[in-house]
Amino acid sequence: MKTVAFIGAGSFGTALSTVVAAKGCKINIYDIDEPHLKRMEDAMENIDYLPGVKLSGDYHFFTDAEDTVKNADIVVFSVPAQHFRSAIKSAAPFIKEDALAVNIAKGIEQHTLKRMSEVAEEYFDMQRYACISGPSHAEEVGLEIPTALAVTSANPDTTHTIGELFSTNRLRLYSNEDMIGMELAGSVKNVMAVGSGIIDGLGYGDNTRAALITRGLAEMTRLGVKLGAKSETFAGLAGVGDMIVTCTSMHSRNFRCGRLIGQGMSPEEATESIGMVVEGMFTAEAVYELSQKAGIEMECVRIFL
Ligand SMILES: NC(=O)c1ccc[n+]([C@@H]2O[C@H](COP(=O)([O-])OP(=O)(O)OC[C@H]3O[C@@H](n4cnc5c(N)ncnc54)[C@H](O)[C@@H]3O)[C@@H](O)[C@H]2O)c1
Repeated sequence: MKTVAFIGAGSFGTALSTVVAAKGCKINIYDIDEPHLKRMEDAMENIDYLPGVKLSGDYHFFTDAEDTVKNADIVVFSVPAQHFRSAIKSAAPFIKEDALAVNIAKGIEQHTLKRMSEVAEEYFDMQRYACISGPSHAEEVGLEIPTALAVTSANPDTTHTIGELFSTNRLRLYSNEDMIGMELAGSVKNVMAVGSGIIDGLGYGDNTRAALITRGLAEMTRLGVKLGAKSETFAGLAGVGDMIVTCTSMHSRNFRCGRLIGQGMSPEEATESIGMVVEGMFTAEAVYELSQKAGIEMECVRIFL
């Protein structure tokens, strides 16, 4: 049976670990936050980020990236986007030559404006690298609520292997060939989710939210196509699918953070009050800079800045 390593024991990494643990895989988990990892190991539950989902199966907890990945067949990077570079940089030298890597982080790196695969290619062989994205609250994946995701890689065999590994009768991964589109859609929708929360917090209605989702989707599609993505991707799971899930649900930290801002908190107070990483807040500026460079007007992003 395969060994699957997770770099980052947050909400979504933990939820995905339960999927492969239930299939009999050995799970290695590492997190830089040692007290958090210890609580998780003692309780066999991610009390801090995914309470209510018990961990069962062959779990092993590590405080060192090398030990976590050195015997793994698959390495999943499950850290926030702004931590992805440090995570892959520290783990990549120890990943086996035939092992695959998967990223689930949604965001654009600040300052470099790189997508996650553009960061990854500095450290890892892209033929063995995949990205998973799409509409998925960790809370629902952890409870085995039926979910569909998208997976992509430069190599169709890698896409297929990762798709098969994480698919169950409750979770289905659809293959996609558009890494650029999937990454951009996943990043921009977090910004839109903050905006949708602001709309809710201000007491506006469904009409306003529908306007943001629809216009936001048009803007992200235009940006994506300009940067080499396929427009169909934005009409699929990683695009409109993820917009729906993130822009309409209290499960989304981005949405909750926006709601607090709409109710009158400053962005700093709102982020602090969520107590976990709010990707959309980091991504807004990077997406706006990217759109300016590409010469694409993104009004739904500009209003944040
Ligand atoms: N939460 C969800 O429902 C969900 C769903 C799909 C995708 N995502 C994406 O997945 C990514 C991770 O989100 P999350 O909600 O699981 O994160 P999280 O905030 O719940 O947890 C992230 C974890 O990563 C750890 N970490 C940070 N830097 C690290 C490093 N260098 N090495 C090891 N561990 C490190 C933190 O200590 C923390 O435990 C984000 O980009 C998010 O957009 C989240």
